[in-house]
Amino acid sequence: MNREYLFALANKYGSPLYVYDAEKIISQYRSMENAFQASKKLKINYATKALSNISVLKLINSLGGNLDCVSIQEVKLGLKAGFEPHRLSFTPSGVSIGELDKAVAYGARITLDSLSILQEFGEKYPKIPVSIRINPHIMAGGNKKISVGHVASKFGISKDHIPEVKKIIGKTGTRIDGIHKHTGSDILDIDVFLRGSEVLFTIAKEFEDLDFIDFGGGFKVAYKEGDPSTNMQDFGNIMTRRFDKFCEAYGKDISMAFEPGKFLVSECGYFLAKVNVVKPNSKTIFAGIDSGLNHLIRPMYYGAYHHIENISNPKGEEKKYTVVGYICENDTFAENRPIPEISQGDVLCFRNAGAYCFSMASNYNSRYRPAEVLVYKNKDYLIREREVFDDLIKHQIEVDIEF
Ligand code: LLP
Repeated sequence: MNREYLFALANKYGSPLYVYDAEKIISQYRSMENAFQASKKLKINYATKALSNISVLKLINSLGGNLDCVSIQEVKLGLKAGFEPHRLSFTPSGVSIGELDKAVAYGARITLDSLSILQEFGEKYPKIPVSIRINPHIMAGGNKKISVGHVASKFGISKDHIPEVKKIIGKTGTRIDGIHKHTGSDILDIDVFLRGSEVLFTIAKEFEDLDFIDFGGGFKVAYKEGDPSTNMQDFGNIMTRRFDKFCEAYGKDISMAFEPGKFLVSECGYFLAKVNVVKPNSKTIFAGIDSGLNHLIRPMYYGAYHHIENISNPKGEEKKYTVVGYICENDTFAENRPIPEISQGDVLCFRNAGAYCFSMASNYNSRYRPAEVLVYKNKDYLIREREVFDDLIKHQIEVDIEF
């Protein structure tokens, strides 16, 4: 999306602002389909948590994708976006049977991630097939916070607990219809992904009536020029061959599901914020923006790199800036980053702001969450209003206490 257009959107809708390029989501989706040679076995279950605006979900729906939902609220969003219930895959971790009851009532497909809940669920719903999330004991992912398939992780049923799974379903009569894993985010190494998949193939053979294997998400996207990313074409080729071989040995064609979040929506997003203050000190020049960790927490929480452009002065002389927010604790977006000269009032643009940016935003410091705009075929659509004071106090109850 070009700078002039983004700049115009910041003026039209105000700042800070999230802007999403629908065409980029479409092209990422299609490139994944193509990498798998449009195999009929492929199921793309978009990880709703990455960016859950209903308009984005509707777009995924129009492309033929399904949703991966990890909370009952995501299931409800999916239904509201028009997905048929069976296209919603509910893969939460550590939820109560009460939340599973609701997912059953809505008709979502159920994935369970502990032995105790498998037992409880099976006793309650012996006729409902479920898939099981396996912890394959694989260290995968860009950093510790987002590595979730290793032996010490809370997620899934250990790959060593299959005998226990069989014992439970032997008693409850539950049919296992799928085997699932998700081992981490920002996985660059295809081999790591494949190693985790081999664990699933081995386990899958133990269950005779599967409909699918779900290999989760976690594909790496580029955050700056020259940054490596998952080669989806290579991955698709290798995985398709391997999966076909599995189906042959299994004696049945089943589906091969993935749950991409970042791959589909990271690069579609632009976060626009205005510079409130330029403050040189003896070590650096601070550029303080009208935002903070309340709107985009990835740099502070994961040390994530987001490329920053000065779209008000793109050709200006580069200087090193420490870009910070207005939150009353350290919220540094970038340290000593070369950026074209910044003046008060300039609009900065953060790239890769589609995945886990708005969806992780909060009201910390009693700030409003930003507006969101979707651009499709050169037209911009406001898809979420900026919050107002009423949103902050909507659920607060002013009680009559004499303090
Ligand atoms: N499936 C499941 C069950 C997941 O938990 C996740 C992400 C995904 C799929 C999609 O993963 P992706 O393709 O987006 O990597 N907030 C972190 C990422 C946490 C991902 C959590 N689970 C970040 O901003 O880097």
